[in-house]
Amino acid sequence: MGLVLAAGLGTRMRSPLAKVLHPLCGRPMVRWVVDAVQAAGLEPVVVVHHQEEAVRAALPGVRCARQEAPRGTGDAVRAAAAALPPTGVVVVVPGDVPLLEPAVLQALLSAHGDALCTVLSTVVADPAEYGRIVRDGERVVRIVEAAECTEEERAIPEVNAGVYAFDARWLRDEVLPALQPHPPKGELYLTDAVAMAAAAGRLQARCHADPGSLVGVNDRWALALAEDVLQERILAEHGRRGVTFHRPATVRVEAEVVLAPDVEVDPGAVLRGRTRVAEGARIGAGVVLEDTLVGPGAHVLPGSVCEGAEIGAAAEVGPMAHLRRGTHLGPRTRVGNFVETKNTTLAEGVKASHLSYLGDATVGEGTNVGAGTITCNYDGFRKHRTRIGRDVFVGSNTSLVAPLRIGDGALVGAGSVVTTDVPPEALAVARARQVNYPDGALTIREQFRERARHPPGDEEEG
Ligand code: UD1
Ligand code: CA
Repeated sequence: MGLVLAAGLGTRMRSPLAKVLHPLCGRPMVRWVVDAVQAAGLEPVVVVHHQEEAVRAALPGVRCARQEAPRGTGDAVRAAAAALPPTGVVVVVPGDVPLLEPAVLQALLSAHGDALCTVLSTVVADPAEYGRIVRDGERVVRIVEAAECTEEERAIPEVNAGVYAFDARWLRDEVLPALQPHPPKGELYLTDAVAMAAAAGRLQARCHADPGSLVGVNDRWALALAEDVLQERILAEHGRRGVTFHRPATVRVEAEVVLAPDVEVDPGAVLRGRTRVAEGARIGAGVVLEDTLVGPGAHVLPGSVCEGAEIGAAAEVGPMAHLRRGTHLGPRTRVGNFVETKNTTLAEGVKASHLSYLGDATVGEGTNVGAGTITCNYDGFRKHRTRIGRDVFVGSNTSLVAPLRIGDGALVGAGSVVTTDVPPEALAVARARQVNYPDGALTIREQFRERARHPPGDEEEG
């Protein structure tokens, strides 16, 4: 069993959100820890209290135990006493070590043998707030918390990672009842178990060489640095499976994102949520994709923002397009610069290349939507649909006032304000008729010139 302590307030985060719920690469901190515990083959049990409901919701299907009040790491284990197995080994990990790797837990377990306690330590450049490992010669004798250190102890570079393996029976029957509150806060420290095991001559200490994977996140800067490490791990994994990243240090790919082999990602791209990108697609510089599906061979050009959209095979989007929720782009469609779409379906081969808003619209195969076409989908009260058929040509700078249907093969003249349905194959022109006055430019210019020479009111003053 792997007991994850996640009931604390996380005061040092200075956040209304519980520390263990802060996301790293789109996944709550405690889930990274629980995932590592599970990957190490241990059944997780999570101790909760602060924002209990939200923590439980972040861990569907995971067993939780409730701590009545966060009175220290020792009290947190007491809260889970009923969940402890009668015999065997219990691994305890803090909920704020998101970089923990399953291999570290497996190594701890295989080293444990029949010790009462095996504690994981590491040597860090700045031991800061970690508990210090106090040794008498080679032997570890106890752990002292940073707040209770003497000058001498404060200088110890070997720290407690907060990760332990315990003999389950000894932990429940001997340790938990014996823990005493530490002034001034009266907290129970799980670290006191280490001194007890040492006194019984059955303590093991394993000093882990890489402090990186054991970092405890207590504040936002530690969070930021930890996220960088996880981000690099995610990108490296994709890179090994055939994804090309240009300037990976500038790219963000969240944990749940799926990238097929032969995807190429340019600098500054941000891929979030449940985004999936199919093989051969290219994601341009500064593109933001959230919960978006990108089809094979599609190309999202720089600066485009897509949320809850679906982009078909070999489609081309952007630069600087905005695809909002409910956008479905068929294969080989083209949505160009400064085009915004929402709740809109474009069938295969549709082109909307420049400066348009398409909201609540369906557009049939092969239709061309001219530059500056706007669907007027909102009347101030309700949204209405625009249905455009196949092989339609919508001239530039057209307003389509919904609800509206434009039949297959129709043609809409540029600059039209279309308010009634257009039958199939019809030509619709809805704009003022043009009048040309012969030499009119000369006449009007002469008039203007005269007026500029004698502005009205000039005579009275002169
Ligand atoms: C703890 C250790 C310290 C170690 C460090 C490693 C103790 C007394 N100190 O200190 O020796 O170097 O971790 O990262 O154990 N929690 C609860 N209930 C509580 C209090 C805490 O569930 O009542 C949980 C927190 O949510 C957190 C974890 O336990 O996930 C660790 O608590 P935290 O307050 O961060 O302990 P540290 O001060 O870092
Ligand atoms: Ca901590």
